[in-house]
Order: sequence, then C-alpha cells, then structure tokens
Amino acid sequence: MRIDIVTIFPEFFGVLDVSLLGKARRDGVLELGVHDLRDWTHDRHRTVDDTPYGGGAGMVMKPEPWGEALDALLGETDATDAVVVFPSPAGVPFTQSLARELAAEPRIIFACGRYEGIDARVADYAATRARVLEVSLGDYVLNGGEVAAMAMIEAIGRLVPGVVGNPESLVEESHESGLLEHPSYTKPQVWRDREVPEVLRSGNHALVAAWRHEQSLERTRRVRPDLLPPEAPAEAPRTR
Ligand code: ADE
Repeated sequence: MRIDIVTIFPEFFGVLDVSLLGKARRDGVLELGVHDLRDWTHDRHRTVDDTPYGGGAGMVMKPEPWGEALDALLGETDATDAVVVFPSPAGVPFTQSLARELAAEPRIIFACGRYEGIDARVADYAATRARVLEVSLGDYVLNGGEVAAMAMIEAIGRLVPGVVGNPESLVEESHESGLLEHPSYTKPQVWRDREVPEVLRSGNHALVAAWRHEQSLERTRRVRPDLLPPEAPAEAPRTR
C-alpha cells in the first residue's frame, strides 16, 4: 500500500518513522510520502489561504496549490485505483470497519486542511480523478487534519498484512468483534493486593473464553451501550 500526505506541516508526520509503522516503512510493507503543500505555490510568500467568499471569520485554503498537488500525486494513476481522504469534522465517522476497507486499497492520499477548511471545489475536482471521502475522527474540532490523518493512518496501517507481527492479536481487539475488549493481565499474580482473576489461571480454555466474552459484554453495556443491538422488546407485539 502507498499512502501520501499533503500538509503545510510535514514535520507533524515525523512520528511515522517510529514503532510498528516505522518498521513497516523500512521493510517496504508500507510506502509513505509526506508532501509540503507550499511546494505547489508560486508566489514569494508561498500563500495557501485567502479570505472566505461571503464573509465570516477565518481563512480558507486556496484551490490552486491543492489542484496542482493532486495532479502531481495522481499522475497517470487510474482514478479507480486511488482514494483521496479529506479529514474534516464534517465528514463521515471514522470506524474500525472503514479502517478495514481502506486497508485493502492500494493507494490513499490524505489531504490535510487547516484554517476554515479547503475551498469546496477541490473535493469536487478530486472526485473526477479518484474516489473521495471526507472523514471525521469524532465530534470535536481539531486545528487541522494532521492529527486526524495520523490516527487514521495508524488504524489503517496496522491492518495491512505484514505490519503487525501476529495477525491474531488484531482479531481480539476492541471494535473488531463489535464489542469492547475484555481486561488483560500479566505477571505477577498478585500486585499491590490485587489478584489476577482465578479463571485466567485455571488453564480451562472454554472457561477463559466464556469469562472474557462476559467481561466484554459487561464493559460494552456499561461504557458503550450504543454499540449493542437494540434490546428485544420485553413482550412480543400482538399480531391480532
Ligand atoms: N479537522 C478538524 N477537526 C477534525 C475532526 N474532528 N476530524 C477530522 N478532521 C478534522
């Protein structure tokens, strides 16, 4: 998979050199390119923003550098082979299932906007060259798309085969099963008067699996009841 990022803060993405993604990059499993949007400006001040039509506070990112950046990165690529992601609080929610879909793509370009966003014609133009998704990390406002892109790249990247050493560890995590993950323990057996639950030391795999499932359900009910299917009605509705 190849991921390109366009941003006015390329230095944000230095962390992509560390940990699992850094290793995947060095091993050639993930190709990552970070590009400075200002490289596609032509004025002395390398201007990327301007005042909004219609008035209002803040600045809007100009379309011209974005158009040139997309043209340069998409090059000859067949439009169906690339997805351009615009991180935006106005986008569709980023979920584990969207991460899984994106992990199967050969090419993703993250277009990180700042200020009051990018001139709306840019996404419109991008849609003539590639598939376009506006994606939100959550219902809060960040200063720009960089942190959101970083989170998405980590969630997507770790699902690309070869990035996480033991693929089984991916299956047991929160959100993969639709439930939150059960609690985990390691040695020592007793720590600060707290003992590891006995069932986990029993060696009985079926009991351990049942306990973990119950813990997952309980945690999900308590913390994220919205993830569970709606409760069946207490009494079946009468048909006559
Ligand atoms: N840019 C600013 N806020 C954002 C959010 N919540 N998600 C994605 N991109 C953003």
